[in-house]
Amino acid sequence: MIQINDNDFVAILTGAGISAESGIQTFRSSDGLWENHRVDDVATPEGFHRDPILVWRFYKERYQHSLRAEPNPGHYALVDLENRMKDNFFLITQNVDGLHTKAGSKRMVEMHGRLSTCFCTKCHKNYNLKDIDLQPEIPLCLSCKKHLRPDIVWFGEMPYYMDQIYEAVAKCTIFITVGTSGHVYPAAYFLSMARQKGAKTIGVNLDEPLNSHDMDYFYQGKAGEILPELVDS
Ligand code: OAD
Repeated sequence: MIQINDNDFVAILTGAGISAESGIQTFRSSDGLWENHRVDDVATPEGFHRDPILVWRFYKERYQHSLRAEPNPGHYALVDLENRMKDNFFLITQNVDGLHTKAGSKRMVEMHGRLSTCFCTKCHKNYNLKDIDLQPEIPLCLSCKKHLRPDIVWFGEMPYYMDQIYEAVAKCTIFITVGTSGHVYPAAYFLSMARQKGAKTIGVNLDEPLNSHDMDYFYQGKAGEILPELVDS
């Protein structure tokens, strides 16, 4: 296995695959979320505008499920790596399930938002879902009483923390991508960007992702098994 040294700067991108062993559905597998739900209906601003009740139902269910899920050895391996690398570590996740936070990751950004928060479509006030009444089919802002929406970055919207992400991708010496199919941009582009800037690139995935040609090392298998080995090495 590739060696990670103390003077490396490690940037990591995770996707749905790292949470699969925690019982969270991925998106593009045969039993994935996008098999049973149309992306246009539940993951675009237009879909929310058309049918906010359907969209809220979808995200409330995923939120309730995420509350019951526990991190797996893949999440914990990244906490171990962070504890060792300290400020030479940056974790970017596309996941909205909160499991990296639950495992203890700190130097981490959730670029596609999170299931546990929402914001007002009018005044933009942000709320934790545990602090609002989820009984109404469309939850309402406590201040202005307008519709709240899930704090998820939908297709056609700008992901969060892009400045910090580009900075970390540009300066890393090792870039690791875990459990992501390489279908969704800009995240799928970070791997080739890091490689162009001189980083060694590593992929850990169950199936070969679309951008595997940009990986110097590809470890095929489950993140919960491979990441602890990689970090130990
Ligand atoms: P995908 O469902 O597209 O891909 C998940 C990847 O994880 C696949 O390549 C699987 O082979 C792999 N995988 C499954 N189980 C694994 C395991 N135990 N260990 C390692 N790998 C495993 O999910 P993402 O690439 O994360 O965006 O999808 C990217 C974005 O598309 C999501 O953030 C979401 C979605 O639309 C939004 O909702 C904004």
